[in-house]
Amino acid sequence: MSIASATKSIAETQTDFLPLQGTDYVEFYVGNAKQAAHYYMSAFGFQAIAYAGPETGIRDKVSYVVRQNKLTFVLTTPLRPGNELADHIYKHGDGVKVLALLVDDATDAWEQTTKRGGKTYMEPQHLKDENGEVVLSGIHTYGDTVHVFVERKNYKGPFMPGYRQWSNPHFAPKDTGLLYVDHCVGNVGWNQMNPWVKFYEEVMGFKNILSFDDEDISTEYSALMSKVMSNGNGYVKFPINEPAEGKKKSQVEEYLEFYKGEGVQHVALATNDIVKTVRELMNRGVEFLKVPNTYYDDLLDRVGHIDEDLEPLKELGILADRDNEGYLLQLFSKPVQDRPTLFFEIIQRKGAKSFGKGNFKALFEAIEREQAARGNL
Ligand code: FE2
Repeated sequence: MSIASATKSIAETQTDFLPLQGTDYVEFYVGNAKQAAHYYMSAFGFQAIAYAGPETGIRDKVSYVVRQNKLTFVLTTPLRPGNELADHIYKHGDGVKVLALLVDDATDAWEQTTKRGGKTYMEPQHLKDENGEVVLSGIHTYGDTVHVFVERKNYKGPFMPGYRQWSNPHFAPKDTGLLYVDHCVGNVGWNQMNPWVKFYEEVMGFKNILSFDDEDISTEYSALMSKVMSNGNGYVKFPINEPAEGKKKSQVEEYLEFYKGEGVQHVALATNDIVKTVRELMNRGVEFLKVPNTYYDDLLDRVGHIDEDLEPLKELGILADRDNEGYLLQLFSKPVQDRPTLFFEIIQRKGAKSFGKGNFKALFEAIEREQAARGNL
């Protein structure tokens, strides 16, 4: 066990130059937004919220907004080739483009980050309609991924100007208990973890709260290093993974090869009842990685007492891990598109603030079985 740096508390006296209120939305660039929106509604239990496209004055793209509790996903597709959006999908396949962060002042967020070296993606812009005003600004992060700062304190509409309310009275799937974004993980290239750690520290005022090296996270084949970056109040956490030298191709390398560069590896979605949530997701066709049943033989010896019955965890393949502050339950989906790139994590925290280090080995072995089946090991 060699957690290089234990959780560090951020000095209360230090002022946070980039106060974040959490994740505002995650925007995916996808090949078919209409069908992707249907997938997130039918399989994950999101509700239709808003739509933008030619009917709302947007000429070259279409976006569907779906929501479940505090989780908002935007699915965007281009209507024509030969633009940044179409090129993004051609190169990367479906994936996360925007990790949008809720702020009180999007102009200040842009000023604070760009004066510290952040590269502008979007200068502050004021969008207005009859429901009020949204201010957006944005900076680039790893790969073609961006952070958009969203100020919506003066807005009452369903999403933002340019969108209209969207619903289908005949199709409103029940929610699955997903609550909010717990963390979003980025995969970066060889020797790029520390430069991106520095970016989050210097440009966005984040702290490195946890580190894993290749000794923590290596199996016979796969190896990676990871550092967890957190903003001041802990609402926004971005672990950054880098591949490490292993016997064969690691899962991060496979991602980098198929995504054609750096990008979001997984988005972790929080629930208060993982057994119920995962059972519901599975019944609706979401596929998860499976660890061998032997994982459960000594689970309670490893993690101690947990409130949940072991049987449903075993039946659904849910993993458990403990740290100094409590335990967590988690499970990882298979990739949600044909390229072996983006996937989701479902997580229930019972006090633990860590990320399931004790599960990495069992999990990576499960990932490697999938990689081998794809011929990518
Ligand atoms: Fe995670």
